[in-house]
Amino acid sequence: MDKLRVGVIGCGGHAQTHFQMIAAEPRLHLAGIAEIDPKRLADNTARHRPERSFADYRQLLDEGKLDVVHVTTLPAHLTALVVECLERGLHVSVEKPPGMSAAETAQMAQAAAQSKGKALVSFNRRYIPQILALRQQLKAAGGTLQCSTTYHKNQTTLGELNRAGLLPDPVICDAIHHVDLLRWLAGVGQDRAALPVSVYSEVEDGARLGAHRHQAVIRFDNGTVGSLMSHYGVGFRIQRAEAHAEDFSGYLELSGEPQCELYQARPGEGESTQGTKIDQPLDLEAVGGPGYNEVRHFTDCILEDRIPWSTLEDAVQTMKLAEAIRSGHKGPLA
Ligand SMILES: NC(=O)c1ccc[n+]([C@@H]2O[C@H](COP(=O)([O-])OP(=O)(O)OC[C@H]3O[C@@H](n4cnc5c(N)ncnc54)[C@H](O)[C@@H]3O)[C@@H](O)[C@H]2O)c1
Repeated sequence: MDKLRVGVIGCGGHAQTHFQMIAAEPRLHLAGIAEIDPKRLADNTARHRPERSFADYRQLLDEGKLDVVHVTTLPAHLTALVVECLERGLHVSVEKPPGMSAAETAQMAQAAAQSKGKALVSFNRRYIPQILALRQQLKAAGGTLQCSTTYHKNQTTLGELNRAGLLPDPVICDAIHHVDLLRWLAGVGQDRAALPVSVYSEVEDGARLGAHRHQAVIRFDNGTVGSLMSHYGVGFRIQRAEAHAEDFSGYLELSGEPQCELYQARPGEGESTQGTKIDQPLDLEAVGGPGYNEVRHFTDCILEDRIPWSTLEDAVQTMKLAEAIRSGHKGPLA
């Protein structure tokens, strides 16, 4: 089988994770890269040894004979590039956040609907094997009833890029990972991300620039209720989540290497139940193995003509929810 020819546009910090995932996927070949910064172009050419390197992404698209493009620029530069790649019929991996706003995501989704190429938004939490295995357990327990996510960071430089107009506010740009994770944990009963129907959000920006605080309660279309807490001025970068089905609970620690604790209650005396910690490890092989990630999923989808789990159309919902949380929305969502 011929390998799919991949190009990467934008070779900055986070592109390095994409290069690693591409190198680890034997069905992909790094055909070319494009980067406008000459030093970054030279460094990434030496490090990742693509077939060809370009300062101008259009030359990569014209001459690279590509099947797939990863667009890993900052959000302000993303939309025009993604739309152009889709108009050329290429498959496109879109970094998160998918644009500066839900309107930009919708613009890209429209281009995807008219393209013969597929698009996947790199909401990478959806593809973490421990999260996929927990979803299976929640589904087996009858579906998620309640879930919550925590996404905290100590003060970051996001505020500077935000003020330069290159990023949306942190909850849309960054904590969106756990806005989307809430939808993904809530949606297990129907094997898709749940759709938010109402949001009650409290927002405080504090005295320090960029130290945004958000606390939101969200009801989903399947009746599941979720909550998000995010704060950009805490003591450390902490990322956690929990999800509960009838008599079953999963607690995820995602600040470093993902870990998951599971608890199951069984009938006890009379009306009561006896809760126990499940010692058996999660079955990661059943969800693609410990090395599963969004690049492997996207490659499967392209080769087997399947719809990716995180399409641009679906990402519009996550962006709208993140925007509602940021604006302190209280009530039903349109
Ligand atoms: N999923 C995650 O966990 C995660 C983590 C960090 C960053 N990100 C996302 O990754 C994206 C990139 O972030 P970053 O920190 O790597 O940014 P970065 O600024 O380090 O890299 C972006 C690169 O794109 C290049 N670029 C811009 N326009 C270009 C064009 N037209 N052609 C070619 N190159 C162009 C820039 O020169 C720069 O080198 C952001 O959207 C960010 O939200 C995701």
